[in-house]
Amino acid sequence: MGINKIIKERRSVREYKSKKVEENVINDLLNDFTNKKRLTDDIKINFGFIQDGKGLYEKLDGLVGYYGKLIKAPHYIYITSEVKDGYLENAGYIGEKLVLEATKLGLGTCWIEVSKNMDKVKEILSIEKDQEIIGLFTIGYPKKERKVGGVYDTEGKSLSPLTEFGYSNIDVKYTDAPISGRKSIEDITYLNNWGQKATVEELEDRGIAESFYYMRLAPSWGNRQPWKFIIRGEKIVLAVCKDEMVSEKIAKIEAGIAMLYFELMIHESGIPGKWVIRNCDNEYNIPENYFIAGCYKI
Ligand SMILES: Cc1cc2nc3c(=O)[nH]c(=O)nc-3n(C[C@H](O)[C@H](O)[C@H](O)COP(=O)(O)O)c2cc1C
Repeated sequence: MGINKIIKERRSVREYKSKKVEENVINDLLNDFTNKKRLTDDIKINFGFIQDGKGLYEKLDGLVGYYGKLIKAPHYIYITSEVKDGYLENAGYIGEKLVLEATKLGLGTCWIEVSKNMDKVKEILSIEKDQEIIGLFTIGYPKKERKVGGVYDTEGKSLSPLTEFGYSNIDVKYTDAPISGRKSIEDITYLNNWGQKATVEELEDRGIAESFYYMRLAPSWGNRQPWKFIIRGEKIVLAVCKDEMVSEKIAKIEAGIAMLYFELMIHESGIPGKWVIRNCDNEYNIPENYFIAGCYKI
């Protein structure tokens, strides 16, 4: 399955079949991750698999997730990281890579935030002292059969007319499974400076419109979609919104997720390049409620 299909198919799954995921499937999924490309190579990351989802749910419900509510799942995976510059972005990037890999295998996942009670959660999961808990994922077979869905903007308006711009591979079908709305490409991109909107045609001319089309489908806390991209010359700057609802930890994880989606898609369209975390001056009039998460150099 191509990466664009996997991205289109992924969504947060909050209802699971009771069927367990076969041990070899989980082993293959996790073993593969020791060699996966990261944003920053020298940061030690660990994934832990919890076979007994029911047992963990009883211990962690009330401590993690939106308003302390953990989603029930047959299993969980947690991600921990060594604390070094860029570790949260790196963990978001690699964690979401795991989510996409699981989607490819027909598994459902949902990020679960761990923003409070971190010491207690670390103790329950027996996490080493030098590692910080980044987050949890539910994992299992989704209750509803997932189909490729239509893509909608935040007002629930269908974005299927995008096929008219030559995205012939966007096959819009309808599905019963819930789909969260998304901002349009124009809502998340600026040309040269903050506030200077880019049109889809201008992005098309640069060969990067499709990358943004799929990037928009990345998951974010409460579906807040906090990202803006400023395209100037050979540089693409990612700015992420700070917001009193979310911690800096979550915003940086979201930044890493956004970097992954954009990078996967732009590489898919044959344009090379690499993200550099934060190392970028604000020459773009980015407002104070946003931070510069990274800079992609084509
Ligand atoms: C860092 C992060 C933390 C999240 N935490 C939770 C959570 O605790 N509980 C939950 O139900 N969903 C959580 N989500 C999932 C988002 O609500 C979901 O990605 C968003 O609503 C968009 O929906 P979609 O993933 O189906 O496209 C989280 C997502 C991210 C990226």
